[in-house]
Amino acid sequence: MNRKVIGSILIVILLAIGYFISPFYNNEGYNTGSQGGISILEVGAQEVGDRPVKTYELTAQETEWELGDGKQVNAWTYNGTVPGEALRVTKGDFVRVHLKNELDVPVTIHWHGVILPNKMDGVPGLTQDAVEPGESFTYEFIANDPGTYWYHSHQHSAEQVDRGLYGSLVIEEKEPEYEQDEFFILDEWTTGSGDQGSFNMGGMMQGHMSGDGEMDTKQLYDTFTVNGKSGDAIEPLVMKEGETARLRFVNAGYQQHQLMFPEDSIKVIANDAEEVSGEKGSAQVVEIAPGERIDVAYIKQSDEPAVIAENPNVENAGGMQIPVVSNENAVVQDDVTVPVSSAMADGTSYGSEELLFKETPDPDVTYDMDLSMGMNMGEGMSFQINGQTFPETPPIKVEEGDIVKVNIKNEGRMNHPMHLHGHRFQVASKNGTSYDNPIVKDMIHVKPGEEYVVYFEADNKGEWLFHCHDNNHADLGMITIVDYKGVYSPFEIGGENQPE
Ligand code: C2O
Ligand code: CU
Repeated sequence: MNRKVIGSILIVILLAIGYFISPFYNNEGYNTGSQGGISILEVGAQEVGDRPVKTYELTAQETEWELGDGKQVNAWTYNGTVPGEALRVTKGDFVRVHLKNELDVPVTIHWHGVILPNKMDGVPGLTQDAVEPGESFTYEFIANDPGTYWYHSHQHSAEQVDRGLYGSLVIEEKEPEYEQDEFFILDEWTTGSGDQGSFNMGGMMQGHMSGDGEMDTKQLYDTFTVNGKSGDAIEPLVMKEGETARLRFVNAGYQQHQLMFPEDSIKVIANDAEEVSGEKGSAQVVEIAPGERIDVAYIKQSDEPAVIAENPNVENAGGMQIPVVSNENAVVQDDVTVPVSSAMADGTSYGSEELLFKETPDPDVTYDMDLSMGMNMGEGMSFQINGQTFPETPPIKVEEGDIVKVNIKNEGRMNHPMHLHGHRFQVASKNGTSYDNPIVKDMIHVKPGEEYVVYFEADNKGEWLFHCHDNNHADLGMITIVDYKGVYSPFEIGGENQPE
């Protein structure tokens, strides 16, 4: 045999070996191949039974949207408005949502915070294929846990959520405690020269010294909105003296917001759909991280107009002010004073009414999650988990029933609101100090230098994202996956499937 022939044979052998061992390499990753275990499409099935069925149609479409103050944007919406159609169901309902895509890019819907079967989670490339232009997809799940939720596209979220593909979802108790119940979704928009949904690094370096953890995001947006409207275009909340309402706030944007309420007017009652107790009543300022949900019971103290407003020290704050008036026709005077206060409650200082763990448990799996920022040669900025960007980030490998401990540490200079799909975790400690009254959540806002320890139980088989909800950071790498043993995703990340 001459050398050429030997060479060719060697190559063939190497290719063959590569072919046979590659599934095992995949196995080390996200298990997205077809090897081993059962498909995620076969786990967690839910039956309608005799449950009431709530059916909705949501059409993703392009919409010229007026933000108010003379500002218009080319938005992407569910059913033609920002936010999209408000969904309200009752605990125990079977929810069925037909998504139709009339945009010319693929989309999905992720049910943020809802504990549901993996295949209904709306993550393209992991739990389904992205829904192509002209195509449809039906989501179904049982509304088991009452609380405040929202939905949004998870296809190229950095752009699609930014452009308006989101809406509210409330799962009501069978007998709601508050007669008046309102939903407010906070967001930021680019209406100036910038391009909504594009992330440029120019300002990041300039702002590097300001040290508030958001200089990268802040330079992108110029207009704040509440329910898709800014400034005077925001619909007033109508309440009479002495009335109490449940106000549900969601932050769909990528900046944190600090809402200021009139003194002694609120009590924080829920966070990420978990009821809280503890420091109730003392807060006047509520900080909401990107992706987070906070519910307050708000009492209208007098018939005088009042205002719920973004911290006035924040740039563009003027756009985020909700007037509270006693009747539809009341004129909101410009001189209604914005309450200024420093009485801000730390989001984790509320304890949850119901805990996942009474005592700190012994973990079966421990995962150290180091969050950092890096510069990649030729590619620019990246946001990393354990030094890697998605999909190279190491997965959190679990088996059904495991108690999982995650040590989340922010070694960078930016805020990272880390959100876990399909589960809730209990926040055990912050910077080494344990909480007396821990809180149960599905996102934790980890600021520069901070370290949190969270625990969850692996009780929902599938492949689930754990990622930063500043979706621009997710887009640049800050995502990992909770990867259950014994299941695989038949879908593939890449191509049309862009879960970032
Ligand atoms: Cu609002 Cu991956 O989620
Ligand atoms: Cu981040």
